[in-house]
Amino acid sequence: MILYFSGCGNSFFVARQLSSLIDSALVKINPADPSPALTLSEGEPLGIVCPVYAWAVPRLVSDYVSRIQSCQRPAYCFLACTCGDNVGRTPERFAKVLQRKGWQLDAAFSFVMPETYINLPGFNIDSPEKEQRKISAVRQRLPEVAARIKNREHVIDVVRGKIPRFNSYVTNALFYGLLITDRKFRVNGDCISCGLCEKSCPLGNISLVDGRPQWHGNCTNCLSCYHRCPMNAINFGKATVGKGQYIFKEEK
Ligand SMILES: Cc1cc2nc3c(=O)[nH]c(=O)nc-3n(C[C@H](O)[C@H](O)[C@H](O)COP(=O)(O)O)c2cc1C
Repeated sequence: MILYFSGCGNSFFVARQLSSLIDSALVKINPADPSPALTLSEGEPLGIVCPVYAWAVPRLVSDYVSRIQSCQRPAYCFLACTCGDNVGRTPERFAKVLQRKGWQLDAAFSFVMPETYINLPGFNIDSPEKEQRKISAVRQRLPEVAARIKNREHVIDVVRGKIPRFNSYVTNALFYGLLITDRKFRVNGDCISCGLCEKSCPLGNISLVDGRPQWHGNCTNCLSCYHRCPMNAINFGKATVGKGQYIFKEEK
């Protein structure tokens, strides 16, 4: 079984591909589920596929995994995380979450995909050429990773980047403390009240009030609303004004 979370489609793509390559069921993480159930058949692997947020598994994903009600320990557990650049010590941090359940992380893989984080000055989406290059490289890597999962390899094969420990612990704590908020989201006059932001929010955190989106305080900054808006009418303060949008599209 593969459990996945995805804001802008990158992780959903990787999850879909892996699920078909290793012939595994695909289950979307429902962050609102207070006690998720998990039933694996004898020897069935468990995979978690999600983006990396501030050099760690998004808290909503690790919280979900912590809440899973199951006395079964997966025979083999892997993490496949997507990132724009690198993942720091994401596997080690996530391994601790599993350890607290009496589970073990057997393998971790990173997939460098197009950038979705744009909420800080200096951050933007990749050029179309860079997006294509990253997606082609991931398409090539997927069968090799699937084969290693099928062989039940014990391996950590991730791009860590510079100062991985600092980023995964110190920067992550600062990021969650200071930057993960929906208080700065605004919609401008170009909004056409299509409701795509509301429909696509994986946390159900947006509703249209008088035809305009309102955010309700339960946001992980996945940026699905920003990137999917057909009018590019949503901004996060001033930091995103004039920046690009990206959603994974199958033909890429
Ligand atoms: C809130 C947030 C934090 C992010 N943090 C990182 C990071 O620490 N390192 C990195 O390489 N990419 C980071 N990214 C980029 C995403 O991990 C990357 O684009 C991912 O593939 C998006 O997956 P998705 O389309 O499934 O949501 C971040 C993106 C967001 C929205």
